[in-house]
Amino acid sequence: MTDVLVIGASGNVGKRVTKQLLDNQFTVKALVRDSSKISDLKCDGLTICERDLEEDFSDAFDGCNQVVFAAGSGGSTGADKTILIDLWAARNAVEYAKRSGTQRFVMVSSVGADAPDNLPSEIKPYLVAKHMADEHLIASGLRYTILRPGTLLDDNGTGAVQTEMPEDRDDAVIPREDVATAIRYALSSQGSDDRIIPLYSGSHAIKSFF
Ligand SMILES: NC(=O)c1ccc[n+]([C@@H]2O[C@H](COP(=O)([O-])OP(=O)(O)OC[C@H]3O[C@@H](n4cnc5c(N)ncnc54)[C@H](OP(=O)(O)O)[C@@H]3O)[C@@H](O)[C@H]2O)c1
Repeated sequence: MTDVLVIGASGNVGKRVTKQLLDNQFTVKALVRDSSKISDLKCDGLTICERDLEEDFSDAFDGCNQVVFAAGSGGSTGADKTILIDLWAARNAVEYAKRSGTQRFVMVSSVGADAPDNLPSEIKPYLVAKHMADEHLIASGLRYTILRPGTLLDDNGTGAVQTEMPEDRDDAVIPREDVATAIRYALSSQGSDDRIIPLYSGSHAIKSFF
């Protein structure tokens, strides 16, 4: 039995969370489309599963207790990939998790996914996709944690966050390392089960929210 399936394990958040989990004695199955991107993480606790999220990836869930969806179509692709990855692959992941008896699902969503109408029209398709994927997870009956981070930064993690939207929207940011830490806590306790947690840099220990 593997502790965690990380979907999007070669991504900027996915790789950080995979590394943190391995450093904390979790066993991890990393779903990636190119295994060379995580060759530096190879160790006994890691299994690599090469799959394309635009195809059937249901078998990746076999033997996994928990799932993290940290994949995304990225800012340089169009609305087609937003629909296929941020919405449809996320929705399929929830369905596969249900079928395979997964215990808990952690979704990396986004600030603004609660109310896509309230943000600029150019990111609305992305936020609608995130919103619909989140709604699908909530209705699934799975134990879930939905994380809605602000704009992601590659800065060092601080270990401290807040869940209230900062007064200045430009301050709604968070290092990817801190999102990875939050995911690790969500997988380690029941404190965030069936909750949606916004995440921005702040002054409270990440652990206190989980
Ligand atoms: N950027 C922001 O400011 C922001 C803010 C809030 C939330 N988010 C969300 O946070 C999450 C993580 O962000 P990030 O910066 O870590 O994203 P990222 O670096 O772009 O990582 C995306 C991951 O998804 C994988 N992926 C995409 N299409 C795939 C496919 N067809 N098959 C298999 N894997 C595929 C990528 O694989 P490859 O490595 O092969 O490309 C990569 O591992 C995303 O869901 C994003 O929407 C982002």
